[in-house]
Amino acid sequence: MARPKIALIGAGQIGGTLAHLVALKELGDVVLFDIAEGTPEGKALDIAESGPSEGFDARLKGTQDYADIADADVCIVTAGVPRKPGMSRDDLLGINLKVMKSVGEGIAANAPDAFVICITNPLDAMVWALQQFSGLPTHKVCGMAGVLDSARFRHFLSLEFDVSMKDVTAFVLGGHGDTMVPLTRYSTVAGIPLPDLVKMGWTTQDKLDAIVQRTRDGGAEIVGLLKTGSAFYAPATSAIEMAESYLKDQRRLLPCAAYCDGEFGLNGFYVGVPTIIGAGGIEKVVDIKLSKDEQVMFDNSVNAVKGLVEACKGIDESLA
Ligand code: APR
Repeated sequence: MARPKIALIGAGQIGGTLAHLVALKELGDVVLFDIAEGTPEGKALDIAESGPSEGFDARLKGTQDYADIADADVCIVTAGVPRKPGMSRDDLLGINLKVMKSVGEGIAANAPDAFVICITNPLDAMVWALQQFSGLPTHKVCGMAGVLDSARFRHFLSLEFDVSMKDVTAFVLGGHGDTMVPLTRYSTVAGIPLPDLVKMGWTTQDKLDAIVQRTRDGGAEIVGLLKTGSAFYAPATSAIEMAESYLKDQRRLLPCAAYCDGEFGLNGFYVGVPTIIGAGGIEKVVDIKLSKDEQVMFDNSVNAVKGLVEACKGIDESLA
């Protein structure tokens, strides 16, 4: 059987890291697409030259031609510009919306059966626009945010409790931004919910609140440190987790920006929700019941995303 084909649209910091991870994990062959001449070719060759030492056989190709992504099984989209210090994800809207239009058309014409994972920010609005521009089925187009936000939450919690990250699960809902909703009662250490751990004296409510805030600001913290771009190792790893669940039909239950058609009371709208990812793409949006407080936070987050989607419609009339 032929190896799966994975097209990476955007060969910048995240795109290059994705290509390296795909090769190391032997998930398939890679096509790196970028408008910047030389960048995808250079990264593809550099990673391919690590193959003999690592022992992988994946083929890697860099290109400026959409025809090369033909019949890709998975497309991961990072094309666009990242944040600089002082910028919010929303500041990227106008520039990256135009990029989504060309990427959506490129995917529709060449890889209409692909499972598409968008990473470009502002995520929830960009994944919506990408689905609109590409016309691909909504269950085949999703966005990566929740896996990353949950991973950040899990990392901070494992440091606080001094336990293995493997035993920490976390649940984050809503848009990928300052309004995201980390759900503490669904986040656990080996099944023990965080509110119980507070009662057990493992941490205090104040410390937990600070960790939740640090999770919300997780992207900005990295931007502030790097100064010339935004996070790329953890975002790439998170998207690979989603791609692997699709390619291997693992049916992982992962939070991601998915199209809600009635779930969570939303219609025709992308936002971060728990999903099952299998061979069919987003096979299910898991509609959980929120408490009153959680619903208020979720609604606030949804409203922020709705504002961005309206702004997209204002910029590009074909989306209205
Ligand atoms: N088509 C293809 N590639 C494009 C296009 C386009 N129309 N426009 C820009 N690019 C490419 C750039 O040439 C660059 O190589 O997208 C790449 C983006 O890479 P980086 O600037 O390194 O950004 P990165 O850190 O990878 O982040 C990409 O993901 O997390 C989000 O906010 C982040 O929106 C940003 C995206």
